[in-house]
Amino acid sequence: MVSKAPARRNASKAKQSDPVIDTLNARLADLVDLHGQIKQAHWNVTGMDFIAIHLLFDEQATMARDMADTVAERARALQGAADGTIRLAVERSTIDEFPHGLIDSKKAIAELVDRYEQLSESFSNASDEAADAEDKATEDVYVELIRTIDKQAYFLRAHLK
Ligand SMILES: [Fe+2]
Repeated sequence: MVSKAPARRNASKAKQSDPVIDTLNARLADLVDLHGQIKQAHWNVTGMDFIAIHLLFDEQATMARDMADTVAERARALQGAADGTIRLAVERSTIDEFPHGLIDSKKAIAELVDRYEQLSESFSNASDEAADAEDKATEDVYVELIRTIDKQAYFLRAHLK
């Protein structure tokens, strides 16, 4: 009889080099960067809809920080390290930098929608990698975060129509 593959290859053993943990750290860098970018937008947005967008961006910044926490703690649950400093985010983040200076609300929203779309794609690739590694729990983390990312993109996109 063929034995069933475990939900996670072997979560009980610490690994020196594990592609799943490396990818969790790569996505962690993206989310640390995203958090800073949303705060940048929160601080610098201008327009007649300022207060609504200022507050919405702050909610989204909190969500980005919570998503970073989820990804980091999944890496730790797999007995890897969770390296999430700002300096590592600068080196490793895959999303485009947010414009500097004051920014009109429509432009700020479009820029953040673009970042969310970039993240949705990289998280989808990461979930595929976790699925290939038969790591259902990590795959589930990514799928849940894709739902959050896509929902926040939709909340922003709705302002542009
Ligand atoms: Fe604030």
